[in-house]
Amino acid sequence: MNRSLVASEQPRMLQELSEFLSIPSVSALPVHTADCRSAAEWLRRHLAGLGCPVTEIIEGPGHPVVWAESPQVPGQPTLLIYGHYDVQPPDPLDEWKTPPFSPTVRDGKLFARGASDDKGQVYCLLKAYEAVLNARRQPPLNVHFIFEGEEECGGRVIYELLNREPERTRADAALVCDMSFYAPGLPAVYTALRGLCYAEISVRTLDRDLHSGTYGGVAPNAIETLARILCQLKSETGEIRIPGLYEAVEPPTPAELATWKQLPFDREGFIRDEVTGKVLTGLKDRTVFERVWALPTFEIHGIRGGFVGEGAKTVIPAQATAKVSLRLVPGQDFEKVGRELERTVAKIAPQWAEVRVNLLHGGNPVQVDVSAPAFEVLDQAFEAVTGHTAVQVRAGGSIPIIPELGLTGAPVILTGIGLPDDGLHSPNEKLDLTQLWSGIEIFGGFFELFARSGVGQPTHRPARSA
Ligand code: BES
Ligand code: MN
Repeated sequence: MNRSLVASEQPRMLQELSEFLSIPSVSALPVHTADCRSAAEWLRRHLAGLGCPVTEIIEGPGHPVVWAESPQVPGQPTLLIYGHYDVQPPDPLDEWKTPPFSPTVRDGKLFARGASDDKGQVYCLLKAYEAVLNARRQPPLNVHFIFEGEEECGGRVIYELLNREPERTRADAALVCDMSFYAPGLPAVYTALRGLCYAEISVRTLDRDLHSGTYGGVAPNAIETLARILCQLKSETGEIRIPGLYEAVEPPTPAELATWKQLPFDREGFIRDEVTGKVLTGLKDRTVFERVWALPTFEIHGIRGGFVGEGAKTVIPAQATAKVSLRLVPGQDFEKVGRELERTVAKIAPQWAEVRVNLLHGGNPVQVDVSAPAFEVLDQAFEAVTGHTAVQVRAGGSIPIIPELGLTGAPVILTGIGLPDDGLHSPNEKLDLTQLWSGIEIFGGFFELFARSGVGQPTHRPARSA
């Protein structure tokens, strides 16, 4: 595949991707249920258009999964490609320079919700496959595509599918492109992902809201009570106060710590341009990389209750709810942590308040062994296009289905073509078009090299012990 081939096709590709990004497939919001289906249909049609003889929309209790198989090429390896077509809610809407579902190019970057996470990256893989097909008529390898629509909202459809039909994950490697380069010009593969335990903590202290003049000074305030509970769950120095939480944590290996020490990292620039705050929080005796990759977190995502409209209302709220989550690292289990959270909240809740923990969803952390030959092949593809092999880092984020993708033995490659400043989940999410075009070359190269690597051919399969 050559650069000019990709270049001449760029306007068409930008047009196609913009169409995909225009579909507001926000999985968390019921008003967008039909849009999620449209995005799934868009993918299915696109895969059929790429010559896949098998394309399916697989139903379940939520947004559907898209499945497709390339024409069979016996004796060649099988690659499973995973991605998600759903996106995060776009709010706060007034902070977008152009509307989230009206994809717009500014300064070589494509701005839209999902541009990087993950529709733009899914699209990149589809075009890499297309480029390989164009170059040789018949695919050089077997590709199975699985795209879900509930990655961002913790749905069950893909779980139930893979539980019922684990054979769908049988492959010589699984490729997940939902992350980013470590820095511009420096590609990455991920050796771990954090897990997640998401919950709502709700507090009721009164039967109804009260006048804060008549009863202020004596009536228990639900928001205040909730705030005190939340503050007890994490110390000001960043220690999460859930018994046993840190005991299960497997510390990073000396090799990982050594690798992380070598990574280029501009702490001041990170604080100013990426975090956009004035300080970093968390455990002061741990490095930034340990804090974002190798330690659990406790974050408060939102608090509901009382009066939040324009102007002033003097009220003592009877009820308040906080959305919270814990990120989990290898060694931890989300169901166990959820039970510990319930127990801890019950212990610190005052007796006169009704306090509930509602566990919404979760996923376990993953650790990836990056020694399989597929990783070497990917490095060759990265090097050919960027001049660099991948740095081995961890991801702070989560993709709940990843542990399941490896269940039948495929090495799971976690990587991506985004950049750290893409603004995932933020207003003005973007994808640099240079990343998209080079990504198509990278993965096109990977497909070719993987097809020729000998991986997956009967004579190269490791002998199985009985
Ligand atoms: N693409 C992200 C995961 C990610 C983010 C990996 C940053 C590496 C670095 C993914 O789409 C995502 O945001 N996942 C959610 C999952 C959650 C809602 C269960 C997340 O991590 O919050
Ligand atoms: Mn994603």
